[in-house]
Amino acid sequence: MVFKHDVLIVGAGLAGLRAATEVAGKADVALFSKVYPTRSHSGAAQGGIAAALQNEEPDSWEWHMYDTIKGGDYLTDQDVAEILAKDAIRAVYELEHMGVPFNRTPEGKIAQRFFGGHTSNFGQAPVKRICYAADRSGRVMMDTLYFQAVKKGIKIYPEFHVLDLVIRDGQVAGLVAYELATGEVHFFQGRAVLIATGGYGKVYKVTSNAFASTGDGLALTYRQGLPLEDMEFVQFHPTGIWGLGVLITEAARGEGGILRNSEGERFMERYAPTIKDLAPRDMVSRAIFTEIREGRGINGQDYVYLDLTHLGEEKLAERLSDISSFVKIYLGLDPARDQIPIHPTCHYMMGGIPVNNDGNVTDMKNNPVPGLYAAGECSCISLHGANRLGCNSLLDLVVFGRRAGQHILENLDRLSWVDPPSGPERDTAERIRRIKEKRKGEKSVSIRQSLQEIMTADCSVFRHEQGLKKALEAVRELEQRARNICIDNLGNRYNTDLMDALELQNMLPLAEAIAASALNRTESRGAHSREDYPGRDDEHWLKHTLVQKTGPGLSISGKPVTVTRFEPKPRAY
Ligand code: FUM
Repeated sequence: MVFKHDVLIVGAGLAGLRAATEVAGKADVALFSKVYPTRSHSGAAQGGIAAALQNEEPDSWEWHMYDTIKGGDYLTDQDVAEILAKDAIRAVYELEHMGVPFNRTPEGKIAQRFFGGHTSNFGQAPVKRICYAADRSGRVMMDTLYFQAVKKGIKIYPEFHVLDLVIRDGQVAGLVAYELATGEVHFFQGRAVLIATGGYGKVYKVTSNAFASTGDGLALTYRQGLPLEDMEFVQFHPTGIWGLGVLITEAARGEGGILRNSEGERFMERYAPTIKDLAPRDMVSRAIFTEIREGRGINGQDYVYLDLTHLGEEKLAERLSDISSFVKIYLGLDPARDQIPIHPTCHYMMGGIPVNNDGNVTDMKNNPVPGLYAAGECSCISLHGANRLGCNSLLDLVVFGRRAGQHILENLDRLSWVDPPSGPERDTAERIRRIKEKRKGEKSVSIRQSLQEIMTADCSVFRHEQGLKKALEAVRELEQRARNICIDNLGNRYNTDLMDALELQNMLPLAEAIAASALNRTESRGAHSREDYPGRDDEHWLKHTLVQKTGPGLSISGKPVTVTRFEPKPRAY
């Protein structure tokens, strides 16, 4: 049986949901999610969504645009930052009208809080720009959007893992999905496919990401010979719970929390004298690692403290209740009394599938691929540059998810139904059969663990040539070993053993792309910090990286950065 929908959206997080709700009612749209949709990782976002509403103090979209570009260490495409900052205000009011229960000011307006790198007057002082719902902003936005999707009658395929794209003569024909409940493999025909599968933080050992964040969407296009962009830029969020990586929102510092070293010193004063603990994440994460390396970790260990003890129980309960309970559950500590041991945790990927400003996927020559779209963390619209600002992610999802949905609709008449090759699901089914047939070989879990350890050791906050070469070689060896994976569970229903193996096949090439792109970029910019090339080098490196699989190897090239209003300047806070 052939399933058919005009528009196939892969991923039911906020980008996928926002695109789907834009298309619904005007074209037949289906949503695919490998997890139950409301478990998508957007629901884990805590701090909020950025928009210059001016509800608490003067602000402007130009300041927001500037902060986004400076935060991204000038690798941000400035036309994209302008779209985002201008549209943010409409996007937040739209969410409010859909029913998102934002916190309120005493006069009943949407309340706003401070967050890292968001400033007034082009960098003068922190500004309250972040709209929030306590520390569960992503959760309430997800639930609201999901209800909208249900209300609009969007066809949802829950627990369908999309394993392949079908592209014929350069145009999208559909996709192949594996149904977790039955083990069946189906072909879905569509005129447009939008990929919105989120990030791939699971390539690292300590991450704030969900188990499902394995980069499946990027692997779909990369396997088709399409490039990936800016893969070297990996964001480590400064405040993960030590050892676990569970996110403690930056809103904790936005509400007044302070980072302290073993001497009790507020060390961010030395690294970012103007905005201190509210510096962008790349700078704060580097500062924490530097404190630890120089012997000022707590008790000589590899963590520092986040001090919220002065905020008071009322504020913690009203604005930071989820993280307060995480700290109690995971550490047995009470943030009203105890300082919280924290350490940077892999949080967000600035790199991804290159797209133009309408979300249309582009190839190595920057030409759009007819019918193929991507939005959200899996994509690289070059908004976040070398380092994303907190709370620009939820915004990116709803602004550019909607925009991609609009562009699909505008172009749908020009996108014909492409006949798939005969048996379009055959290659995918064969891939699964090969894994299941192998009776001797390696377990995917041991390869996955080695991958996470290698990436954490040599491709993390600080990098250097020797380590990156080592990581690249080791990842390539793991790719060889992964050809020999065998699984124990041969069943068809909810075969998580098989899922693990398939996800690993997706993660390995992405890790290779991260290490190779990081090795290639011989400068330090934003989250990519090369100890052997400590300075930013605009003369040679004010460009995006494109990486593409070419048979057994990789080819790497550059793509210009769009600079419209703000000439690159040294980045200090
Ligand atoms: O710290 C946080 O709440 C994370 C927000 C974000 O990544 O945008």
